[in-house]
Amino acid sequence: MIKHSINGVAKQFGVRVRQQMKIRAGIYRIVTPDGRTLSLKRMPKGVGRARWIDRMLLRVRQSGSLLAWRNPNRPEGRRAYHLSKKGEIFVLTPWISGRKPSPRSLADMRACGVALARFHEAGLTALKGNFAYSEMGTWFATLRKRHCYIQTKMANARRNGFSQPINRFIKQHGPEIIRYARQAEELLKSSGYLNYRRHPRKHGILCHGDGGPSNFILNDEGTYLIDFETLRVDLRAYDLYRIIYNSCKDYQWDFSIAKAILDGYRQVAYLDKRDYKLMSAWLRSPFSTYLVVSGFKRIPFTMKRLRWALDSERRIGPFLEELDEYAASPSS
Ligand SMILES: Nc1ncnc2c1ncn2[C@@H]1O[C@H](COP(=O)(O)OP(=O)(O)O)[C@@H](O)[C@H]1O
Ligand SMILES: [Mg+2]
Repeated sequence: MIKHSINGVAKQFGVRVRQQMKIRAGIYRIVTPDGRTLSLKRMPKGVGRARWIDRMLLRVRQSGSLLAWRNPNRPEGRRAYHLSKKGEIFVLTPWISGRKPSPRSLADMRACGVALARFHEAGLTALKGNFAYSEMGTWFATLRKRHCYIQTKMANARRNGFSQPINRFIKQHGPEIIRYARQAEELLKSSGYLNYRRHPRKHGILCHGDGGPSNFILNDEGTYLIDFETLRVDLRAYDLYRIIYNSCKDYQWDFSIAKAILDGYRQVAYLDKRDYKLMSAWLRSPFSTYLVVSGFKRIPFTMKRLRWALDSERRIGPFLEELDEYAASPSS
C-alpha cells in the first residue's frame, strides 16, 4: 500500500502521521506528530466479524486483560475500524513497547500461559452467550482437509511431479506422515470432542486463535496479547494447541516449554483430562508437513523444510507421551 493511502486511512481515525514503517504487507507502525506510536493493520475478515471482535475485546479488557486494542475514550479510538478507499478494513491500536517472549525462557512461557488463561476466563463473561463465529464444529473437517491435501501431494510425487529429491523423499516418508494423520483423527474420536461439540454453550469459550511467541509482548505492565484477527469461539484446547505448537516447533519439541505454558495456565484456570486429549489430537496432526507442502510464503516447499517437518513429526510422538504423563500427574 502506498504511503499516502496509509496517511489517508490514519486521517479517518483523526490521526496525523509523522513517520510510518511497514512491518509487513498490511501492517504499519506509525508515529504521530506528538510522538505516540500506533499500529495500523488491515483486517482480512469482513465488517461483521470486525465488529464482533471489537465488542468482545472491549469487554475482555474490562476484566483486566492487557490487550493491544483501541481505547474508546481516546479520540483515535472512537471507531472500531475505518475503510480504505479500496474498501479494506483497517484497525488502529496502540503500539505496545516491550519484548517478544522467548521459548528459551520458561518464565516467559509461564507468563504467556497465565495471560492466555486470564483471557479465557475474561472471555467467559464477555461472550454472554454470543456464539457467532464459532469454529468448534469444524475440527474433523479441518484435520481431514489437511490430511487429504497431503495425500494429493503424495500422489503428485508418485507421478514424479516435483524435483527428484522431493519425489523420492515424499515417496519414502509419505506413509509415515499419513499414519500420524490417521492417529490424529483417532485421537480426536476418542477425546470426547463429539460430546463437547454437542454442547457448544457449555464448552465454547472466546479463543485468541493464534497464540504463540510472536503474539505476546512482555513489558513492565505485564503480558500483552496482540493480533486478534483469528478471534473465534472454540474450545480452550484449541488455543493451548496453537500456543504449544508455535512455541515448540522451532525448539525440537522440548516438553519443558509446553510444561511451563501449561503450569502458567493452570495457575489461573482448570484443565481436565479431556482438554489434554483434544490438544494431543491437534498436535499429532502433521501440521508442519502440511505447512511445507502447501508452500506458505514463510515456509517454502524445499528439501530442508521437508526434513525439518519430518523431524518435528517424529519428535511429537515422545512429546505426547510426556503430555500424557503431565495430564496424569497428581497436580493436574
Ligand atoms: N500493536 C502492536 N504492538 C507491538 N507490536 C506489534 C503490534 N502489532 C504488530 N506488532 C509487531 O508486528 C508483528 C506482526 O504483527 P501481527 O499483528 O502479529 O501480524 P500477523 O498477522 O502477521 O501475525 C508482531 O509479531 C509484533 O512484533
Ligand atoms: Mg501475529
